[in-house]
Amino acid sequence: EEDVAEFSLRPRYLAEYIGQAQAKENLKIYIEAAKMRKEALDHVLLYGPPGLGKTTLSNIIANELGVNLRTTSGPAIERPGDLAAILTNLQEGDVLFIDEIHRLHRTVEEVLYPAMEDYALDIMIGKGPSARSVRLDLPPFTLVGATTRVGLLSAPLRDRFGVVSRLEYYTVDELSYIVSRTADLLQAQIIGEASREIGMRSRGTPRIANRLLKRVRDFAQVKGDGIITQEITHMALSNLQVDPMGLDEIDHKMLRAIILSFQGGPVGLDTIAASIGEESQTIEDVYEPYLLQIGFLQRTPRGRMVTENACKHLGLPMPKRS
Ligand code: ADE
Repeated sequence: EEDVAEFSLRPRYLAEYIGQAQAKENLKIYIEAAKMRKEALDHVLLYGPPGLGKTTLSNIIANELGVNLRTTSGPAIERPGDLAAILTNLQEGDVLFIDEIHRLHRTVEEVLYPAMEDYALDIMIGKGPSARSVRLDLPPFTLVGATTRVGLLSAPLRDRFGVVSRLEYYTVDELSYIVSRTADLLQAQIIGEASREIGMRSRGTPRIANRLLKRVRDFAQVKGDGIITQEITHMALSNLQVDPMGLDEIDHKMLRAIILSFQGGPVGLDTIAASIGEESQTIEDVYEPYLLQIGFLQRTPRGRMVTENACKHLGLPMPKRS
């Protein structure tokens, strides 16, 4: 049920989708052109930090094209046969969404090459000297791939996407607008300042904005009269340990560790991860990109370093390096 509610909060058409102006504008043209030619849209690669709308956009692409959407993910496709089964069940023009596409097995990825390039499936029949390969035609389709780690994609896979779109962090204005829109859909009353406050503390990420909104709404309901005011918002976000820049406990732990245990850096990612008991991967994909974006962290060849602004924000002196 949570899923159903979640889904209806998502925009279903480009016109309802806020932000990502560049990606949106271009996609709109490619979709319109494909429809005019009655062809499948070229394959689309969406990349960028988590929570910026990659899944939402894939839904929108299918809706705008008026075709079916089939959703799966890199790790979910274990064998070449799993992917073959999905591909042979597509209808002409359908969108196949593969989330975390950087995690596809190499053997599965190889099935994808002819599928993307020629809408064909090469099937091996038999083994040994008598083995031969049979080519099966697939309906023209659109692969939408999503990844937080575009650098991990193999060159042959990356090169087969005709449209490559990087999603950017949202502005505070865009996030405030998304919060107001979601509040409307939830039939929650929110004042403008509260939308803005949530927008400011959402790390450029709509998924976070909508999650914070729901928690603030809980506080408004229980501690207030249901109206989401600025006061309730402050109380809720302080209880959630989300600071005025939107940083949470893990951001704080990480920055403090670099400053206090490693003299501000440079220090390697794995060392930071071990010292705060988090996965390196989570730090790299989820926490670090936003800290880099707001200029609290720098990546150098010798490791991560905190900046003066990060120290100021935490109220700690900038370490002196010897
Ligand atoms: N909800 C989550 N992301 C959104 C977006 N980009 N536009 C509108 N509503 C959203």
